[in-house]
Amino acid sequence: FQAEDGIRDSSVTGVQDVCSSDLVFVQPAALIAIKRDGLELSDQQIDSFVSGVADGRIPDYQAAAMLMAIYLRGMSPRETARLTAAMLHSGTRLQWPDDGIPVVDKHSTGGLGDKTSLILAPLLAECGVRVPMLSGRGLGPTGGTLDKLESIPGFRTGLSIVELQQQVLSLGCVITGTTAELAPADRRLYALRDVTGTVPSIPLITGSIMSKKLSESPAALVLDVKFGSGAFMKTAAEAAQLAESLVRTGTSMHVRTTALLTDMNQPLGAMCGNALEVQEAVQVMQGHGPADVRRLSVQLAAQVLVDSAACADPVAATARCERLLESGAVYDRFLRMVSAQGGDHRLPLQFAPVTELTAARDGFVQQIQAEQLGYAVIAMGGGRQRAADVIDHSVGLEMLVRIGDRVAAGQPLVRLYCHDPQAVGQQVLASLVLSESPVLEPLPLIHSRLTMLDHQFVQQAG
Ligand code: URA
Repeated sequence: FQAEDGIRDSSVTGVQDVCSSDLVFVQPAALIAIKRDGLELSDQQIDSFVSGVADGRIPDYQAAAMLMAIYLRGMSPRETARLTAAMLHSGTRLQWPDDGIPVVDKHSTGGLGDKTSLILAPLLAECGVRVPMLSGRGLGPTGGTLDKLESIPGFRTGLSIVELQQQVLSLGCVITGTTAELAPADRRLYALRDVTGTVPSIPLITGSIMSKKLSESPAALVLDVKFGSGAFMKTAAEAAQLAESLVRTGTSMHVRTTALLTDMNQPLGAMCGNALEVQEAVQVMQGHGPADVRRLSVQLAAQVLVDSAACADPVAATARCERLLESGAVYDRFLRMVSAQGGDHRLPLQFAPVTELTAARDGFVQQIQAEQLGYAVIAMGGGRQRAADVIDHSVGLEMLVRIGDRVAAGQPLVRLYCHDPQAVGQQVLASLVLSESPVLEPLPLIHSRLTMLDHQFVQQAG
């Protein structure tokens, strides 16, 4: 199965064809001025900009100026959909046999301790769908799925398009990095956004995430849009705006897209850090592990199974996923995925020495500044401060308390796995805010679900 040289297929994109031979190259300075002045770019102007980025005709300084203009002025839903389509068509798309087996995927906007991708890929494959999961590396304080998997000795995250398609056809799932052929415009734009303060822009995030995910040619996508102290979006209202943009864009390209808005005011599960998160994901795949990781994984999986028509009803889909986790079948498939990608699961994961941090006084855990915990993991060496940094997979932290817990002076709060606990201990302790009196109920893990039916947004609680 070859990657499609797909530029013209409007039946897949649902928006007007982006056809390289028809492209008229418009002077970038003129395009930048249009957006600078708050006007809408036409489809052709967006195509011209993206193709100029992808083929290098537009230099970094003009691409960066356009990114800042988009960041400041925003984009309409039409512009955002066209930007996504043009970024998608800057590369190839995966092709799958026409045999009725749905292709699905999940994307998370990123949060501390979020290891659900490791569970979702084998869980969904076990349910009989195909999962070509293209994942990323750590971004800011949140970890990256590829970095986590590389804790497993030998695990390869740089498969070619042919390798990744073959693995999906034989095993049902793969988790790998995006390749140079898939949405190449995003590589360049993302690198520029990272260094020009233009990452947190809803149209740019939408184009970036959706062009990569749509290049997998999925039938259905489930998006975990996180909000709170450990997420990109700090409030549910901001997350809803991003979710609307992602869902609208996916739907406009005929991919059934649902977003779950989920709470990230404290880490998901107990473990934060690469090898520690793999270990916790394995516990969930063996039918154990923390209830929140397990519940979110099952809910995301059930949603995309129903959306892709692989399961008829959400209750049955949820029960099936829970059964498969209990039975060990998901772990088994995970081990086969690890072996297929060169990993040696018989070698034990490595963990740095442990130090416990204890409460200085009695109280209740009122708040957890999850972003600060994420930066502490980076400071231990578990993430990158510069792109070239090499990650220490053995470090991280284990949360021993959650929001609302009562703690007594001297009680262990956090277990650090690191080589220099003095360097980060205070920062970690300061991330836990204790109060004298009991705190309000913590927010529910799943705030709401958002999808589109008949061109209307439908939002349901939990
Ligand atoms: N993840 C992406 O792939 N792109 C973004 O812009 C943000 C998160």
